[in-house]
Amino acid sequence: MTTPTCRICETPLHTFLDLGHHPLSSAFVAPGDAVDGARDAFRYRLAVGHCARCALVQLTDDIPHERRPYQGYPYHSSGSAVMREHFRATGTQLLRTEMRGKRDAFAVEIGCTDGVVLRTLADAGVRTLAFEPSGYSGHGGVRVHRTFLTAGSARDVVAVEGRARVVYAANTVCDIADLPGFFAGLDELLAADGVFVFEDPYFGEILGRTAFDQFYDEHRYYFTATSVRALAERFGFRLVGIERLPVHGGQLRYTLARPGRRTPAPAVAELLAEEEARGLTVPAALAAFADRVDRVRRDLVALLQGLRAAGRTVAGYAATAKSCTVTTYCGLGPHLVPYVCDSTPAKQGRLTPGARIPVRPPGAFAAPYPDYALLFAWNHAAEIMAAERAFRAVGGRWILYVPEVHVV
Ligand code: TYD
Repeated sequence: MTTPTCRICETPLHTFLDLGHHPLSSAFVAPGDAVDGARDAFRYRLAVGHCARCALVQLTDDIPHERRPYQGYPYHSSGSAVMREHFRATGTQLLRTEMRGKRDAFAVEIGCTDGVVLRTLADAGVRTLAFEPSGYSGHGGVRVHRTFLTAGSARDVVAVEGRARVVYAANTVCDIADLPGFFAGLDELLAADGVFVFEDPYFGEILGRTAFDQFYDEHRYYFTATSVRALAERFGFRLVGIERLPVHGGQLRYTLARPGRRTPAPAVAELLAEEEARGLTVPAALAAFADRVDRVRRDLVALLQGLRAAGRTVAGYAATAKSCTVTTYCGLGPHLVPYVCDSTPAKQGRLTPGARIPVRPPGAFAAPYPDYALLFAWNHAAEIMAAERAFRAVGGRWILYVPEVHVV
């Protein structure tokens, strides 16, 4: 087998975690589908490596593009009131900062999530456009340019709209296959004094919380301040801002600008120093992380087997993309988790990828309540537990596996 290499600089990767072969996290199956040829039959190796040269943590194996037909399918809406508020606040913050006094400016989002950020800007009179290949425009009715951002597509847009003062992306850059092409597009699109603001899961949090379920096919890169600084400089930009976000179990928001245009905020040097002091990606830290991941698997399987032996009922809660990593890596199926409740209509009535756990609507959760609920959307724990407080009131218990297996 050839050694996997870095997608950016082609240095051989240090593979520190191998979770085995997994189906695509969006490959939900209709119950009548044949096993062979079903959407979830394809497997890829889910392993994670670190590039010592550009510091980038990334999946080691590429998934052929034709195998990813569901990319951009509107599963991405989180169905979370907390996330909608997060995006509304993001739009408001951009209006207060980058757009201040510049309401005639042009703002672009790459991938458009629920459309809330652009809607918030558009409501204040800002001209907006999303680059979204699926054409999905969220719930905000925002204008969509149905393509990836490349130098060519950026030129087409700039010819009509002019250059953008702000380009924003949430949970998108971590899945861009062609980063050189993307940054070439950004270079065409961004005004001289413009900024590119993006947010993605932070590898420092993944490591700190042993949140191995953040590893799946739609996340190719797991950024740190150190790797984003290197990436920005490689493609002609500078990292000038960093903000910690509480959403999705700990994300970072990065601000990039053109060289010499902005003085980097103190938070940038602070986090770079913290990552250095913490030895975030030194081999010993990565090996210890892999050991903790294995421990979570053993503990979770033992807990679920024990509950089954004791005659306790268990249900899953939220058929997230993350849950595909957990069920596949831990070998969970309907024998240990007979069904999972999820608010996404397109997932209900289907089976989860690989594990083939039936997905039921949230209303099925109380009919009757299980004794235990395995929370696959631990990143929305506060919101879900508040909405489902009646479950605990009748003696139900939540099982969480981040940062370690525990019952609340
Ligand atoms: P998210 O963490 O965004 O998932 P992913 O790992 O797929 O990125 O959570 C979204 C999923 O969780 C989606 O399938 C809907 C489900 N969900 C519920 O079922 N109920 C809820 O209250 C919330 C917030 C999410």
